[in-house]
Amino acid sequence: MKPPCPVQDRAHKKDIRCHNYGGGSAAATTALNPLLVFALLLATIFTLFMLFSPSPPMIKPDLQRNTSSFIRPQQDCDLYRGHWVPDFRRSSSYTNSSCPTIPDSKNCFRHGRKDTDFLNWRWKPDGCELPRFDPRAFLGMVRGKTLAFVGDSVARNHMESLLCLLSQEETPVDVFKDSEDRFRTWHFRGHDFTLKILWSQFLVRGEEEVINGSSTGTFSLHLDEVDGAWAREIPTVDIAVVSAGHWFFRKIRLYQRGRLVGCVYCEEPNVTSYGPEHALRMSLRAALGHINECEECKGTTTTLLRTFSPAHFENGTWDTGGGCARTSPYGEGEIDLGSSEWGFRNMQMEEMARAERVGRGRRRGRRFAALDVTRAMLMRPDGHPGEHWGNKWMRGYNDCVHWCLPGPIDVWSDFLMAALSQHI
Ligand SMILES: *[C@@H]1O[C@H](CO)[C@@H](O)[C@H](O)[C@H]1NC(C)=O
Ligand SMILES: *[C@@H]1O[C@H](CO)[C@@H](O)[C@H](O)[C@H]1NC(C)=O
Ligand SMILES: *[C@@H]1O[C@H](CO)[C@@H](O)[C@H](O)[C@H]1NC(C)=O
Ligand SMILES: *[C@@H]1O[C@H](CO)[C@@H](O)[C@H](O)[C@H]1NC(C)=O
Ligand SMILES: *[C@@H]1O[C@H](CO)[C@@H](O)[C@H](O)[C@H]1NC(C)=O
Repeated sequence: MKPPCPVQDRAHKKDIRCHNYGGGSAAATTALNPLLVFALLLATIFTLFMLFSPSPPMIKPDLQRNTSSFIRPQQDCDLYRGHWVPDFRRSSSYTNSSCPTIPDSKNCFRHGRKDTDFLNWRWKPDGCELPRFDPRAFLGMVRGKTLAFVGDSVARNHMESLLCLLSQEETPVDVFKDSEDRFRTWHFRGHDFTLKILWSQFLVRGEEEVINGSSTGTFSLHLDEVDGAWAREIPTVDIAVVSAGHWFFRKIRLYQRGRLVGCVYCEEPNVTSYGPEHALRMSLRAALGHINECEECKGTTTTLLRTFSPAHFENGTWDTGGGCARTSPYGEGEIDLGSSEWGFRNMQMEEMARAERVGRGRRRGRRFAALDVTRAMLMRPDGHPGEHWGNKWMRGYNDCVHWCLPGPIDVWSDFLMAALSQHI
């Protein structure tokens, strides 16, 4: 079986190859050995992405203010269908010096990025306007609440962007950080608002297989067991922003009730082969199902599923010199909605709708909605750090997965604010 290639494979850009995460066609179609090596390298790159994160100290609580300036978007408009329009009047609401929490690895200007045009674009939904993020109004909406991002380093990237946006109104207090900086909690005292990242690559319990004391890069996923790291905390959370994706492009063994039920990227006798999409679908279903079933959770929990965030490696994969040096967005006609990334997004929307139907049928119905960022971000090959991510140990490698701050990822919080104004 040939697993899907998780890249945009636009016909007119023949130099693009499968880029990433063990899902590269080269790795996927050949035998096990290169695949294992690849997966190991991959585990390394993610570990390194993780190690080089922020170190921000600061305190400056602020007063609560008026929240009436935010205009709700029209209910009947699809905010996620649109295009990027040049906008030179509205610069970013923060800079690398006005955001005290900016993480070094996303501080692209500090690491030599020279072009700034990528900041001068505004997302324009086809049928309406997307209201701009308003930190004061946002903090008013979430007063007294806890919002948690559940996911991997791209989920953390969103939290980092939101922190920068909010810190223009109130400086958060860093209240918790684990030794690996995977779990982090911030508190906005002036608004009694708590913001967290609950790290979970797979949403379900996943363990890296270890043979004779060394990591193999192969993971075991227990599709019927949600990852306790976030599940334990979810009863204290009012708003969960759940996402997953990039860790599924590797060799994974799938278990249900302790029995091996399939395998991703492996050809093993008597084991059903699946692509990453199936593993992600089942993990999401388990995670959203858990939120629907959760007895201890607050009745009002709102869950937003943030859809797949595309990478943009060109001229190679991340480990074969691939990069992302573009300085402006693609137009609507230039993105490929036949790509597997878009397929991932469609699957995620299906699982979200499924959970939403279940939630609606319950007495203490949980609410579900999408932060459907995939289409907008497919158009932003210019938004990644590329070589400007300041990693001394991985010089020569490009980060075309995460997003610069400030940058187009800041629109995710515009979407977040719009979604919350409709769903909380
Ligand atoms: C909030 O601002 C609006 C207009 O900007 C004003 O009409 C309203 O009185 C203000 N409310 C509070 C509580 O300050
Ligand atoms: C901010 O970016 C400028 C380049 O635009 C860079 O020279 C400076 O070092 C950066 N400042 C911080 C605090 O990262
Ligand atoms: C583990 O190590 C032992 C002793 O070195 C060796 O015999 C065995 O084949 C190894 N197992 C695997 C799966 O590599
Ligand atoms: C696979 O299944 C067949 C039929 O049940 C069996 O004969 C064979 O031994 C199995 N192979 C392995 C490697 O388990
Ligand atoms: C890909 O390679 C071509 C030809 O060398 C070059 O012009 C282009 O800028 C490269 N693209 C990226 C994103 O680096």
